[in-house]
Amino acid sequence: MKLRHNPASPYVRKVMVCAHELGLAGRIELLSTAVSPVETNATLAAENPLMKIPALVTDDGQVLFDSPVICEYLDSLAGGGKIFPASGKARWTALRQQALGDGILDALILCRYEIAARSQDKRFSGWTDGQMRKAHQGLAALEREDLSSRTIGSITAGCTLGYLDFRFPNDGWRSRHPTLAEWYKAVEQLPSMQATRPPTG
Ligand code: BEZ
Repeated sequence: MKLRHNPASPYVRKVMVCAHELGLAGRIELLSTAVSPVETNATLAAENPLMKIPALVTDDGQVLFDSPVICEYLDSLAGGGKIFPASGKARWTALRQQALGDGILDALILCRYEIAARSQDKRFSGWTDGQMRKAHQGLAALEREDLSSRTIGSITAGCTLGYLDFRFPNDGWRSRHPTLAEWYKAVEQLPSMQATRPPTG
């Protein structure tokens, strides 16, 4: 399999954490891919019309995107039901937690693009404030979740907190969410999280 990859993307990290947890990382070739919210990447567009990463080219040539679909596909390759509970309350809990983590990431990345792409005087502060409000409300909800099982929900939560530390190191989420901070202390030490740490600098 080939994965359109960028080590800074938290959604790519999610896929790779799942791959490590499922024992599939060695079967995935990483294709380094530059992404921009405004520029065309014709190679990526040929695989994913939305020009987003991650995109996975399977061994039979199918292209899968985005991260929830790829992660569930990897789970199915590993036999199914490993990190995506097969049914019932456990499944809906894991999927809700995944949606919560992905939603926080969506808001953080919209903020990041506004901050990275514009000089301070051109930034729309109402936009960044609104996105950060969503991210902070999402984190407050994540603090109330039971993240004790290794599922797509807790994996997404770990990657979300990792991205906050990576791009918003002064956010101060640990002092607002001590339960989450304590949980993340152990999670960030997992081999799957260590193997997928975002670049420094
Ligand atoms: C980032 O550099 O923060 C980033 C890169 C790719 C996708 C999303 C975020």
